[in-house]
Amino acid sequence: MINVAVLGYGTVGSGVVEVLEENNAQVSSRAGERICVKYILDLRDFPGDPYEAKIVHDFNVILQDEEIDIICEVMGGTGAAYQFTKQSLESGRSVCTSNKELVAKHGAELLELAARHSCNYMFEASVGGGIPVIRPMNNALTAEKILAVTGILNGTTNYILTKMDREGAEYDDALKHAQELGYAERNPEADVEGYDACRKLAILSSLMTGKNVDSEKIYTEGISGITSADFSFARAAGMSIKLLALGQSREDGSVTAIVAPFLVPEEHPLAMVKDVFNGILITGNMLGDAMFYGRGAGKLPTASAVAADVVDCARHKGKTVSCVWSREEAGLADISETERAFFVRVKECARREAEAVFQGGRSFSAAGCGSEFGILTPVMKESQFREKYDFLGDSVLGRIRLLG
Ligand code: HSE
Repeated sequence: MINVAVLGYGTVGSGVVEVLEENNAQVSSRAGERICVKYILDLRDFPGDPYEAKIVHDFNVILQDEEIDIICEVMGGTGAAYQFTKQSLESGRSVCTSNKELVAKHGAELLELAARHSCNYMFEASVGGGIPVIRPMNNALTAEKILAVTGILNGTTNYILTKMDREGAEYDDALKHAQELGYAERNPEADVEGYDACRKLAILSSLMTGKNVDSEKIYTEGISGITSADFSFARAAGMSIKLLALGQSREDGSVTAIVAPFLVPEEHPLAMVKDVFNGILITGNMLGDAMFYGRGAGKLPTASAVAADVVDCARHKGKTVSCVWSREEAGLADISETERAFFVRVKECARREAEAVFQGGRSFSAAGCGSEFGILTPVMKESQFREKYDFLGDSVLGRIRLLG
């Protein structure tokens, strides 16, 4: 029998218990031994809950129980979750997690700790919720040199942008709707400012290079400045607007990484990822593109990925599954040196000046936006673009990068 403890009985934690109980026959037969949830750690009591008897409030009860083999850390944060994960790994217990903040910040160190104690730190659920992407990168794509990862990694912002696109809604109304449906938090900053996608990109980019990509150094822009006028122009240009997370490996071993809204051609596979869904395009040097699509958040999809990690840990008891992510820092390229095209919205009265500044660009108009026009600029360095954009001062009304 494999005994499991679940740390945190919130949305994902209760989902993990549900998946491990409801699919117990499958999970156990695939693990090769019966899987049993022995403890659930939470500060709260859950009177009347079917698993009330398993609730404990003290992590030491779990740590000191030698019958515990695997720990699911689904409490989130980088405080107690970090301490409990370290203590678990040091005691030889494998840890499975959905905690992207902790994985992004301490992934390399925790993997090293797991290897030192012949156990595993698994984090399939930390990126793309229920979408398998970490394990494919580690296993199925392991013969590839991964050149790039391009993803819609945040369901909340994708829902907001889809609503703005489909219904012409303004950002504030679409955000309010996302909050009413429970997608967006009351404080939506981590999602809408791109921080959540940035942490997930740091994890994918670290796996792409095998070196550590520091999420705090990734250039990050959110979607709170996107307007319905931006969508009118995007539609007129045959494009959609998506919050993309882009990681590209460079010849010198460094990485270009950015999270920002991008104009994406309507026929691009990522433009077809709508609502709360996530999509991740991985480009390998031999394979070309492979796309992973599905539910990037939510109780049961995320819990299913954690439960799959539990099975994997059970199958590899006493052995560490290789995952190449060293503590060595991957250099991050200066974003101002990267080249791409941009979309700029300009006041009609400044047409002559703007067209001269962005010479070679394509001007176009959008229905209902008569007092302004759009320019799709030629490809140029971010630093050059910034200079030109700033030069135009109050005449420009916004700008969005183009996915090249
Ligand atoms: N807030 C995240 C999202 C949850 O909207 O995608 C999953 O990490």
